[in-house]
Amino acid sequence: MDTKFPKVKTTIPGPKAQELLKFKEKYVPNGVSVNAPTFIEKGQGALIEDVDGNTFLDFAGGIGVLNIGYSHPEVLEAVKLQADKFFHSSFNVILYESYIRLAEKMAQITPGNFDKKTLFLNSGAEAVENAIKIARKYTKKTDIICFEGAFHGRTLLGMSLTSKIKPYKFGFGPFASGIHRIPYPYCYRCPYGLEKDSCDLRCAERLDEIFLSVVEPENVAALILEPIQGEGGFIVPPDEFMTRIKEICVKNNILFIVDEIQTGFCRTGKLFATDYLGIEPDIITTAKSLAAGLPLSAVTARAEIIDSSPVGGIGGTYSGNPIACTSALKVIEIMQRDNFAQKSQNIGYICTERFKTMQEKYKLIGNVRGRGAMVAIELVKDRVTKEPAKEETAALIKKACSRGLILLSAGLLGNVVRVLVPLVITEEQLNAGLDIIEDIIKEIDGSAV
Ligand SMILES: Cc1ncc(COP(=O)(O)O)c(C=O)c1O
Repeated sequence: MDTKFPKVKTTIPGPKAQELLKFKEKYVPNGVSVNAPTFIEKGQGALIEDVDGNTFLDFAGGIGVLNIGYSHPEVLEAVKLQADKFFHSSFNVILYESYIRLAEKMAQITPGNFDKKTLFLNSGAEAVENAIKIARKYTKKTDIICFEGAFHGRTLLGMSLTSKIKPYKFGFGPFASGIHRIPYPYCYRCPYGLEKDSCDLRCAERLDEIFLSVVEPENVAALILEPIQGEGGFIVPPDEFMTRIKEICVKNNILFIVDEIQTGFCRTGKLFATDYLGIEPDIITTAKSLAAGLPLSAVTARAEIIDSSPVGGIGGTYSGNPIACTSALKVIEIMQRDNFAQKSQNIGYICTERFKTMQEKYKLIGNVRGRGAMVAIELVKDRVTKEPAKEETAALIKKACSRGLILLSAGLLGNVVRVLVPLVITEEQLNAGLDIIEDIIKEIDGSAV
């Protein structure tokens, strides 16, 4: 690429992208959403070049998939070598070494000091589906507890566990049965109207309460939660909340499933967000940045739990594709060798400081939150009423794109801007992206606090 910074030469979409968009409109379903209305030609590090020669900084990372960055040379080399040998055999038909080496690696790097085994699949939703299947089989129980604001995918079970109605669920029912939802500690908008430091973990108490009036724990196989909600708006629960929930699960023989699909692979400043808590999930789901963009997801669980599924009961034709497993092994090697956790913490520090300084200047920013490089701002029309600034959020994302910065929204209320930037971004690039955000926020709401 001839520049290391955003450089937009055309209107977005440019002429070539406009031509291609006509085909998209004619042949691709409207239900497939599009964030930046242009077409990528190539990616490198944290940069994208589109078909019209415009250069963008990517703060979305393919929805948290590119923590290692676009086209990492060592990943490319490993993938090319594997592609030369074979693309696919199906692990169910004939075995290959990368699958077992990656399973070994996952056992070593995921939280939990016990024997673990890993099943590989293709997407995040598929990992979640299998985690639930495995939990039900092992416990011989049926029901599942999940959270308001959660996102676990778009398949029937994933969608049933997902919280946001529009666009994810509206009209797509009926949903899977036996699913019970409780509030997540969204402290900026506490579901109980309490304050974080004096609430006595009211949200965790709700779990005990539902055993009295909603479902008996004898019927609950598992509880599934994101250690930090991603799609829900980068909501970071108090550490003690997670610990308390885990305790209640243990007391009631309920498996504790942690969905690290968005938080995993150094996004939060550690390899996994659960690493901050010192708690051991029974089952962990991962995907996204695991294989640098090749479709791969994983269910890592206590060996005795995952071994309760019968031969042939779990798996799939493409599950654990050899090129994807090879890519993942290289990703993990690089992340550990080059200390991506530290990179994530540095990015998080810079973003948080800059956003907090912006918050002091512009009343549009109601809340700055996150952990490591998983940072977000929540935009409000009024800091007292906290009325969500949904239109302003959409305008910020659109304007940013026209200036060479790809951004993503999040949140039940559609008023959160989240940073999922590749962790290989340089400090200069990061600040260039943050400058674009600040300029636009100033334009949308330049009034001093
Ligand atoms: C926490 C979490 N779980 C599950 C999923 C579903 O993953 P996929 O889109 O690969 O099915 C996502 C996707 O954003 C996610 O963030």
